[in-house]
Amino acid sequence: MNKIGIIGAGSMGAGIAQVAATAGHEVLVFDSNPAALERAQANLLAILNRLTEKGKMDDRTAKAIFGRTYFLDSLAAFSETGLVIEAIIEDLTVKKAMFKQLEGIVSADCILATNTSSLSVAAIAAACEKPERVLGIHFFNPAPLMQLVEVVPAIQTSTDIAKQAKLLIESWGKLVVMAKDTPGFIVNRVARPFYGEALRILEEGIADVATIDWAMTALGGFRMGPFTLMDFIGNDVNYTVTETVFQSFFFDPRYRPSFTQKRLSEAGWLGKKTGRGYYDYSEGAENPVAKQDPELGEVIFARILVMLINEAADALYLNIANRDDIDLAMTKGVNYPKGLLQWADEIGIENCVHMLDALHDEYLEDRYRCSVLLRKMARSKHSFYGK
Ligand SMILES: NC(=O)c1ccc[n+]([C@@H]2O[C@H](COP(=O)([O-])OP(=O)(O)OC[C@H]3O[C@@H](n4cnc5c(N)ncnc54)[C@H](O)[C@@H]3O)[C@@H](O)[C@H]2O)c1
Repeated sequence: MNKIGIIGAGSMGAGIAQVAATAGHEVLVFDSNPAALERAQANLLAILNRLTEKGKMDDRTAKAIFGRTYFLDSLAAFSETGLVIEAIIEDLTVKKAMFKQLEGIVSADCILATNTSSLSVAAIAAACEKPERVLGIHFFNPAPLMQLVEVVPAIQTSTDIAKQAKLLIESWGKLVVMAKDTPGFIVNRVARPFYGEALRILEEGIADVATIDWAMTALGGFRMGPFTLMDFIGNDVNYTVTETVFQSFFFDPRYRPSFTQKRLSEAGWLGKKTGRGYYDYSEGAENPVAKQDPELGEVIFARILVMLINEAADALYLNIANRDDIDLAMTKGVNYPKGLLQWADEIGIENCVHMLDALHDEYLEDRYRCSVLLRKMARSKHSFYGK
């Protein structure tokens, strides 16, 4: 397959275009906004220049990559593409209209993919006359740097198309995991307690943001604490993902968003990008200092970790992905220090069940219900990576 089409020249579309062009494809990038096309083209040039200056790429390669990436204000040339990846606004109606329009332009065997993070791939595919050629190919931001890609076949997608897409994306040097077409796929579903449980601990007054962040980094080995990470992602973006997942799961209390984050978002305290979030990023600002109490830190870390493990176990139980893909998704997609299912084995499945049951007994909330899989495994003394 030589020509790849990208729709949308925003952060994701531009990044995916760079990945595909670097892999040797001719890449056609379309955007309805001419300014976005100009920006994406200028950014690509700047990135390639930086890579050559740093000696990470030779001049000829950089020129060739730039030369085979075309920024277009029309879809006509997309008739020659073998795969189109759509990365436009996250709006089902707009995406469906785009897929419908695309089908009238591309060849009969062109694969159509969406980079959606939260919409149903089945719903997007349903806009097409040949829904069997439609699937989700979910890159992470920034696409050139993040190794993980979730490939998401819809119920209509043919097995062959999913296989072809997986092989192609792997040939681009990416690590591909297969995920079921359910809200949040793997990463955005399994990661929810990292934020949600941290917020709950904060709201209950058990610890402040700095102490929770310290527990997760110093004791847990996570690269960033939940509050630093939410400030980095943006509280508006992170809140919207949580709310979307919550609604898509028919209001399962496990995914309930937090008022604390909602208020921050409403106040415009979005995090690093606005200079204020959970932390104050202005010069000379005084921020809370972590209370480095190992006993308290252990309580915080264990509670958040076991909720993450519960989520990962449930994703496996409900066939969202297989064991290895769930662990890979979290280590490569969000840089967790260890796969959650491997972590569960190390803690002991029975211990995980006890910890979850203790939370459930204390709170009497469905949010803390233990995954049936963990309970069954504890009973039969199974582990994820052992017998
Ligand atoms: N930003 C992320 O971290 C991230 C990660 C994974 C997936 N995604 C998904 O990728 C998609 C794009 O996200 P983004 O962050 O790059 O958005 P963005 O806002 O940076 O870019 C979207 C681009 O699409 C263009 N566009 C909008 N409607 C269009 C249309 N009808 N036709 C052609 N172009 C159109 C806009 O002009 C804009 O340039 C979304 O579905 C999003 O959910 C985003």
